Amino acid sequence: MVMPLFTRPIALLSTAFLFASVAWADCECGYTVNGTLYTELLETDFLHTNQLNETGWMTQVYSVESDAARGPFGKAAEAKQVAPNPLKSRYDWAGDGIDGGDAGLQLLVSNPGKSGMIPMGEMATNRSDMRYGSFRAAIQLTGQKGTCGAFFWYLNNSHEIDMEFLSSQFNESSHPVNLVLQSEDSVKAGYDAGNTNDFDTYQLPFDPSEGFNEYRFDWFEDRVEFYANGVFLKSMSGEGVPKDPGHLMLSQWSNGDPRWSGGPPKQDAVMTVSYVKGYFNSSDTQRQGDWKNRCKDINAPNATCEVPEITGPPQTNTTAKTFFFSQQQNMTVNQTVSGGNPNTIESGAWSIHASTQSISTFTLLSALVLFMNWRS
Ligand SMILES: *[C@@H]1O[C@H](CO)[C@@H](O)[C@H](O)[C@H]1NC(C)=O
Ligand SMILES: *[C@@H]1O[C@H](CO)[C@@H](O)[C@H](O)[C@H]1NC(C)=O
Ligand SMILES: *[C@@H]1O[C@H](CO)[C@@H](O)[C@H](O)[C@H]1NC(C)=O
Ligand SMILES: *[C@@H]1O[C@H](CO)[C@@H](O)[C@H](O)[C@H]1NC(C)=O
Ligand SMILES: *[C@@H]1O[C@H](CO)[C@@H](O)[C@H](O)[C@H]1NC(C)=O
Ligand SMILES: *[C@@H]1O[C@H](CO)[C@@H](O)[C@H](O)[C@H]1NC(C)=O
Ligand SMILES: *[C@@H]1O[C@H](CO)[C@@H](O)[C@H](O)[C@H]1NC(C)=O
Ligand SMILES: *[C@@H]1O[C@H](CO)[C@@H](O)[C@H](O)[C@H]1NC(C)=O
Ligand SMILES: *[C@@H]1O[C@H](CO)[C@@H](O)[C@H](O)[C@H]1NC(C)=O
Ligand SMILES: *[C@@H]1O[C@H](CO)[C@@H](O)[C@H](O)[C@H]1NC(C)=O
Repeated sequence: MVMPLFTRPIALLSTAFLFASVAWADCECGYTVNGTLYTELLETDFLHTNQLNETGWMTQVYSVESDAARGPFGKAAEAKQVAPNPLKSRYDWAGDGIDGGDAGLQLLVSNPGKSGMIPMGEMATNRSDMRYGSFRAAIQLTGQKGTCGAFFWYLNNSHEIDMEFLSSQFNESSHPVNLVLQSEDSVKAGYDAGNTNDFDTYQLPFDPSEGFNEYRFDWFEDRVEFYANGVFLKSMSGEGVPKDPGHLMLSQWSNGDPRWSGGPPKQDAVMTVSYVKGYFNSSDTQRQGDWKNRCKDINAPNATCEVPEITGPPQTNTTAKTFFFSQQQNMTVNQTVSGGNPNTIESGAWSIHASTQSISTFTLLSALVLFMNWRS
């Protein structure tokens, strides 16, 4: 039977409607930052997280003697120096934590007393397959003199991208952030990136110890760009740009070195992290294969999602929500998500969001052609 011509537009229209209503998981091809695509996501909402073991982050426990710590004191990374301090109300977005003080993940440096080891707090992501990405953390640094607060990407001592804050350097008129690529050169220079091209001190227009600000670095194959509250600070390129995969870290430490961390601090120094957001590519062939299977048509509507950027300090009041893809419906198919979401969709380290069945334009058009051929 030959299909009367006038019904064809109707068939097409209803198919278009069918296509529009097909369940499509947003962002399944990834997340874009100013046109650069990243296939993976790791978001952590420390304002609403009590169980650190469910966030994809691991508390670091180790110690190094003073000679290895390259300062007059040794360093002791201890679990008790890392404390989750979520908001009292899971519906709020600012305020005090359950243990008092600003809510968020607390990393503490304590006075060593008579011991030669300075207790410090450090976290590392479980995932170590991060190769290129845009990484952000909202942090309030300590006002106690004598620590180094750091947000960084790490593989080893010669492959490292660092944003470091030295509380001893803060005064009324000076609030620098130290931007560093630790490279083979800085190892040769006696672990002093200051003697290499991959070091810069940038004056921030605000006091990092007086509230939360978003620190960010975007790592590309040929360069690293640093930002604060969405404002571009500096780009570094050359041999110091790492090419191998590693993980993301948060740390506050002191070794008493007067030329760097200073300290130890007289009292507990608290660094608080309210969130971390990472949009990145994976070096893992399994994850790359998952992405290829998941991403049927990169040009389909909402197949990629733009990462929203901030233009000022984050979270200024209790109702100003921070945006997380992982707190929306269907925007993190088969991604790593964190626990503690107030609008709980799913939680758990490496909990993998249910894969949705996505039907590409190509599949639908093929089906339509087959159907019409069958009808005629
Ligand atoms: C998410 O996707 C699934 C499967 O495609 C669908 O059943 C569900 O309704 C979607 N939820 C929302 C809120 O879009
Ligand atoms: C976005 O990328 C374009 C080049 O594609 C560049 O000129 C521009 O400066 C970038 N903008 C930001 C905010 O990085
Ligand atoms: C990340 O991976 C995607 C998919 O392979 C690719 O299109 C994109 O260019 C990569 N991004 C960077 C910064 O290498
Ligand atoms: C995390 O630790 C809590 C106890 O502190 C335990 O109940 C929970 O099962 C742990 N979760 C995972 C994913 O290990
Ligand atoms: C770390 O991730 C791997 C998957 O790469 C998983 O098998 C393992 O259980 C995770 N470990 C922790 C402590 O979450
Ligand atoms: C760091 O890792 C890279 C890449 O695996 C390796 O080539 C280099 O020798 C390592 N450097 C140190 C100091 O361990
Ligand atoms: C603040 O620190 C800067 C840089 O170390 C220094 O030049 C300046 O004199 C200091 N200002 C005050 C008021 O201490
Ligand atoms: C989701 O990711 C996991 C971990 O990489 C993988 O084992 C699984 O096959 C993926 N599922 C889909 C449907 O892509
Ligand atoms: C999905 O696409 C629509 C229309 O293009 C757009 O308004 C919306 O912001 C997109 N959503 C995401 C999460 O990118
Ligand atoms: C909280 O911040 C949001 C976004 O900046 C603003 O729209 C809202 O009016 C603020 N609410 C209060 C109570 O200040």
